[in-house]
Amino acid sequence: MSHSAPDALRIRDMRVRILPDARAVSLAAAEEIEAVIREANAARGRAVLGLATGSTPEGVYARLVERHSAGELSFRDVTTYNLDEYYPISPADPRSYRAYMHRHLLGRVDIAPNRAHLLDGSVPESAVAEYCAAFDRWIESDGGLDLQLLGIGRNGHIGFNEPCGLSVAEASRLRTRRVELHPVTRADAVREFGSAEAVIPAALTLGVATILAARSILILATGAHKAEAVAAALAGPMTAEVPASLLQSVAPRVAWMLDRGAAGALPDAPAAGPPIV
Ligand code: PGA
Repeated sequence: MSHSAPDALRIRDMRVRILPDARAVSLAAAEEIEAVIREANAARGRAVLGLATGSTPEGVYARLVERHSAGELSFRDVTTYNLDEYYPISPADPRSYRAYMHRHLLGRVDIAPNRAHLLDGSVPESAVAEYCAAFDRWIESDGGLDLQLLGIGRNGHIGFNEPCGLSVAEASRLRTRRVELHPVTRADAVREFGSAEAVIPAALTLGVATILAARSILILATGAHKAEAVAAALAGPMTAEVPASLLQSVAPRVAWMLDRGAAGALPDAPAAGPPIV
């Protein structure tokens, strides 16, 4: 990432780039991920990526697939861990995040299937706690995440770490676990499930502590509907009511990439410029 680019600024010691539109965010994010893959491969012979689902990263994966198809990028030495999954859900369900990842990336690049790790939404209820703890241990035994890619929910969630009344210290210790989805998250999931009744109201998610342990964190937001959550997370106080604000505690390892819409509520929005029409 070019830190001297005119679109780059720092807020609370986090790097922030404000780009013209969602496509520019996707391209810049894909470039950053590719750089991390190359650097980690050169340093340790492998790269470990934490990946996210949702509409925001779709363009990022499309770009990475394009780079792979052009013979410019290999995932041969890449290991991936995904952030979250609905619970319960069959891995074969087309609405599962496993299916999403297969459609958008994993089924379209040369990653070894046994190196792509996704939380299994079909683990029996009685085994969930142990399974989630094991998922955290697998990440650690792979040497930790070189990069965690994140989106942000309209309510400020990261993964499915939802707004809650815990203290910052308590929230920062949350590990991978089963969670109930927040009403805003359930409302946004109607897009994927077709109706409010069909939305699966629980999920498995990487914990805040697991996310904060990544060696670098790249968080993306596009669209004016994210502007308030982005402003609260970047410029507001650290609070478990806005889980993305907890990233401030590891600020030097965090990079935000925003389009102008998502940057629209930042206090001075210095680089926001005129809206693109
Ligand atoms: P979205 O979701 O990319 O579909 O907006 C982001 C998130 O909830 O983390």
